[in-house]
Amino acid sequence: MSKKKIGLGTWSWGNKFFWNYKISSDEDLYETFMEALNQGFSFIDTADSYGTGSLSGRSEKLLGKFLQRTIKAKKNKIKIATKLAPYPWRIGRKGFCLPFKKSLNRLNNQLDIVQLHWSTEKYNPWQDFQLINNLCDLIDEGFQFEIGLSNVGPKRLQKIIQFLKDKNKRISSVQVQFSLLSPKNEQQKYLKKICDQNKIDFLAYSPLAFGILCQDPSIINTSKRSFLRNFIFQTYDKPTLELRKVIKEIAKARSASLAQVAINWCFYHGAIPIVGLRKKNQVLDISKVLKWDLTKSEFESLDNAAKNCTKKLPENPFSSL
Ligand SMILES: NC(=O)c1ccc[n+]([C@@H]2O[C@H](COP(=O)([O-])OP(=O)(O)OC[C@H]3O[C@@H](n4cnc5c(N)ncnc54)[C@H](OP(=O)(O)O)[C@@H]3O)[C@@H](O)[C@H]2O)c1
Repeated sequence: MSKKKIGLGTWSWGNKFFWNYKISSDEDLYETFMEALNQGFSFIDTADSYGTGSLSGRSEKLLGKFLQRTIKAKKNKIKIATKLAPYPWRIGRKGFCLPFKKSLNRLNNQLDIVQLHWSTEKYNPWQDFQLINNLCDLIDEGFQFEIGLSNVGPKRLQKIIQFLKDKNKRISSVQVQFSLLSPKNEQQKYLKKICDQNKIDFLAYSPLAFGILCQDPSIINTSKRSFLRNFIFQTYDKPTLELRKVIKEIAKARSASLAQVAINWCFYHGAIPIVGLRKKNQVLDISKVLKWDLTKSEFESLDNAAKNCTKKLPENPFSSL
């Protein structure tokens, strides 16, 4: 079995609007973090934009606090990755200087991967390159981190790879939406090919489609969710029924959860999933994917069911070509 890597996603940590975050759940999040370390997760993904309203930056702050409570030997085994948002006012070759230092501070000085959160191609085609230049300058000043990208298409990725080659720097990872329900999976597979050719990790975000893929097709789920997430779950309930039946059939045969099946589909494609988790038992469940693989025929039945499911999740509006 190949060495599988899993990332822990923390978008929900501090997000009230979509994820119904409550400060009272912070101890659950600490247990989630600790269990991810115990189970050998490879990295934790956050962003400077995570956390809604007055909780802005909450995800990074929580991670920083948790890192402070963790012994060095354990911390050294996991990489911390943040994403800096290329807001329209973060311009020029110094646009990321302050945001980078603020994130580093919130993260208790552990920051191993800095990713450009989305491409600016659609509103300011040069900004991407200026901000990447800024990250290169920070590395040259002595800060040690890898550079990652997010929400880029194949054309943009190739341009950025070339741009960095000329500076003797490289992209270490690219994260895009990739799941049984994500749009443009053919384009993402092409992007993955470019990643492979350039030894870049291909990271799959929202691999459970916000949890829709974990919904048992025979049970009406009454979990408490935010208004928006509830609306999305209801909208996707019927259109994803056949797909979820196929997922459940495999899960049943493998004595596994639906979540494990959906994550193993990502692995079969060679992606490294970033799974959004906020409970210790979810970490324990997801870690079981390290112990089994999909067979070719299981994979094909999932792939076909995904192709037949015509209602996909929306694309990130800032994704470039
Ligand atoms: N670069 C970008 O633009 C971007 C965009 C989106 C996400 N991301 C990254 O990718 C990460 C993951 O994506 P995501 O947060 O959108 O969602 P996701 O991983 O597709 O789904 C996460 C949700 O699935 C449910 N779940 C997880 N494990 C489960 C299990 N074992 N059994 C049943 N349900 C389970 C949980 O719902 P409950 O908590 O309600 O139980 C969890 O919150 C984010 O946290 C973030 O780090 C990046």
